Amino acid sequence: MHADSWALKAKKLGLRSRAVFKLEEILTKTKILKRNSLVLDIGSAPGGWSELIKTMTPSSNVYAIDLLPMDPIKDVMFFQEDIIKIDAIEEIFLLKSKFNLVISDLAPNLTGIRAVDEENISELNIITLDTALGYLSKSNGSFIIKTFQNSLLKKLRTEMEKSFHLVQTYKPAASKSKSAEIYLYGERPL
Ligand SMILES: C[S@@+](CC[C@H](N)C(=O)[O-])C[C@H]1O[C@@H](n2cnc3c(N)ncnc32)[C@H](O)[C@@H]1O
Repeated sequence: MHADSWALKAKKLGLRSRAVFKLEEILTKTKILKRNSLVLDIGSAPGGWSELIKTMTPSSNVYAIDLLPMDPIKDVMFFQEDIIKIDAIEEIFLLKSKFNLVISDLAPNLTGIRAVDEENISELNIITLDTALGYLSKSNGSFIIKTFQNSLLKKLRTEMEKSFHLVQTYKPAASKSKSAEIYLYGERPL
């Protein structure tokens, strides 16, 4: 399907973002989302991914965090906060080491200066990975992170390989082929 058709499809289905199709494809391939999962959605606004998790597994408990506000989703606990301050959110902090799935679609504001943007993305990726490792269950936790193909991607992949039993890369069909975005998947923290 042409990349813009995914945006049209999302609109027709009343979905909050076309990003939904990318996560759906990864979840379908990895078969990682189970009923009654505890899910942390980092960089959640406008809410497409949280909504998808609740649609696929209504019994899952979803906690979501974003710098921007997000319209409410039934049974999703949303916190408007910077990821860096996540430990200050008591409701989430109490669930350290308990999450089955952490998903991150975080994207920093771009400056247009390639070296600066790559550094900012890399820094945010490493913060997100550290956060995920602190909140995931050691026995059955999984992590999905959106990042970008750039000179620092290898660094993130290497860090993930040091942190998970299994690491895979995904480029979902709904992701524009000319877009640099790419998704890394980590299963069972080491
Ligand atoms: C591509 S959007 C997420 C779309 C979402 N997955 C969906 O399906 O609706 C990226 C989000 O990351 C958020 N973000 C960027 N930096 C952040 C930070 N430091 N802490 C929390 N959220 C952040 C942005 O505000 C933005 O809403």
